[in-house]
Amino acid sequence: MRRFAATLALLLATSACTTMEQGPTVTSAQQAMVSPILTSPEAQDDLTYAQPEVARVTHVELDLDLDFDAKRVGGTATLDILAEPGADQIVLDSNGLEIARVTDIAGNELPFTIGAMVEDGGKGAPLTIALNGARTIRIQYLAPTDATALQWLSPEQTAGGEYPYLFSQGQAILNRTWIPTQDSPGIRQTWEARITAPKPLDVVMSGVRQGEPEDLGNGRRAFRFIMDKPVPPYLIAIAAGDIDFRAIGPRSGVWAEPSVLDEAWREVGDTEEMIEAAEELYGEYRWGRYDMIVLPPAFPYGGMENPVMTFLTPTFIAGDRSNNGLIAHELAHSWSGNLVTNAVWGDSWLNEGVTTYFENRIVEAVYGEKRAEQEAALMFANIQETLAEVGRDAPGTALSTDGGYELGSAIAYDKGAFFLMTVESIVGRERFDAWLRQWFDNHAFQPATSEMFYEDMMANLVRNEAEAQRLSLREWIFEPGLPANVARPDPAAFAEVDAAVNTYARTGAIPSAYEGWTSAERQRFLDNIPKDRSAAQLAALDEGLGLSETGNNEELFLWLELALANRYQPAVAQAETFLGEVGRAKFVRPLFQTLWNEGAWGQPIARRIYADTRDTYHAVTRSGVDRVLGIEG
Ligand code: BES
Ligand code: ZN
Repeated sequence: MRRFAATLALLLATSACTTMEQGPTVTSAQQAMVSPILTSPEAQDDLTYAQPEVARVTHVELDLDLDFDAKRVGGTATLDILAEPGADQIVLDSNGLEIARVTDIAGNELPFTIGAMVEDGGKGAPLTIALNGARTIRIQYLAPTDATALQWLSPEQTAGGEYPYLFSQGQAILNRTWIPTQDSPGIRQTWEARITAPKPLDVVMSGVRQGEPEDLGNGRRAFRFIMDKPVPPYLIAIAAGDIDFRAIGPRSGVWAEPSVLDEAWREVGDTEEMIEAAEELYGEYRWGRYDMIVLPPAFPYGGMENPVMTFLTPTFIAGDRSNNGLIAHELAHSWSGNLVTNAVWGDSWLNEGVTTYFENRIVEAVYGEKRAEQEAALMFANIQETLAEVGRDAPGTALSTDGGYELGSAIAYDKGAFFLMTVESIVGRERFDAWLRQWFDNHAFQPATSEMFYEDMMANLVRNEAEAQRLSLREWIFEPGLPANVARPDPAAFAEVDAAVNTYARTGAIPSAYEGWTSAERQRFLDNIPKDRSAAQLAALDEGLGLSETGNNEELFLWLELALANRYQPAVAQAETFLGEVGRAKFVRPLFQTLWNEGAWGQPIARRIYADTRDTYHAVTRSGVDRVLGIEG
């Protein structure tokens, strides 16, 4: 109770933001957005140095030059600040930034210090700036060459092979390596940017491009962008390369290198339908355009939900749209994550779990119930597998954790999704959908915590004590393991495949139906057949099912994993080619792990391949593989 009273006092003090002083571009809407929830104990972000209750960034204006020779980004960041009347300093996050000078808007020097650097985990160092009354400050800086948010690709790493390429990845706390701001998901900021880049490269960002690029006459062009909706700073993103655009629908389109654009465009052809399905489910798409960029294969993730410009790996392209759950997923983040945002990364299930549920609903609406059920059944198997591995009482298996993503996608993503599926099955779809829609509406452009999610369900969804009992909400959110009331996937979803797995395990008979199966069915088969296979058995599988020839990288990955785990020499060359092209951590790290587990056979292969590929991977992928191979980062 005492704690509650103290929190309340703090909350009242800091939400009285009308008394705060502010920089010029702060609107009344933004003032209201100094979210009182940030002062509650469970919303304290340990991964930022910012003290938003004292002084808080509301708007970031970047004027940056992309130097592809030096592989450095530099220029100025001009920040608008909302601060308490007496506030005499602001604390920003920085990691490796070289700060040349800081001034107020009139050019008066503002003293600053960079505090002690936390080496581990990328928290970086606090950049503390004396305000001397200023509410707009300008930082002149240079990002380090090894900024972990940025990956500079050589021409050889692109499809065209002729021009270099740059992309950024901000989530979770990487953007402080190239933007000096308060890098916390609860501190929302509008932003604008002017970016200069060498011709003929094109630049896109996670904001709306303004007009045509300006030719600077020195072989360079300037591009302008605006994001007028307040976003958490991990969503500021940039990509630059030899890229073209092709429209899909009235508000959607796709960017890619010229030689990839056609197949990318064909693969994402259901996007407009997905946006319509998403709006039908949970309300208006609030960001204006929905464009995507298909990046080179070095991109370390499947996708990243950068507002108005989803970033995608090209490895999702299968020719038949079978991996398009990825697009449904990144699109769904336009509500869960980008509109309503986890206040702390330990609550990332609020972004990823809610999105995975929403993704499955879009897949159902666009591709039908069967596909949605199968994809859900794959998630359920993933949860079971992970729980069996780490134990049902491992603390990291609670949705709300203090940690990050150690358990892959099984908990935050799949357990999170099954939580919502379970609630839906208990209260009924109609009530559930109405509840989720109001959650997005009532918390739009605000941070959220697990505690708020629980309170909101209790206040706006749960009808009575008996229903509360049946739901076990607190157990779902705060306890490890999988609650007994989980809505299990329909076993019929994979009845045919599971029968084929049994037959194969008993007799070695290769299923003749495989070719006609959905990708989810194939993945189920490859995941569930006996793991211990002889070379002859692997050859028969490859021959019978065309595994090494598949155009679907999810299936190819499962094949390579199975083959390498059985020291199957004929697969090594293909694995080497794959690992030399693809930088997606979800594929790369497990393949190196599989090789590593094969001791005297696999470790020399892993070392040899990694010696060639390490430099081509993004810092995220590199650090994962470094850990597998025991390399000091
Ligand atoms: N936001 C995530 C990517 C991410 C997660 C970046 C954690 C940094 C830290 C993105 O929306 C995502 O979940 N991508 C998945 C897509 C898949 C689940 C369909 C991926 O990259 O595999
Ligand atoms: Zn996601």
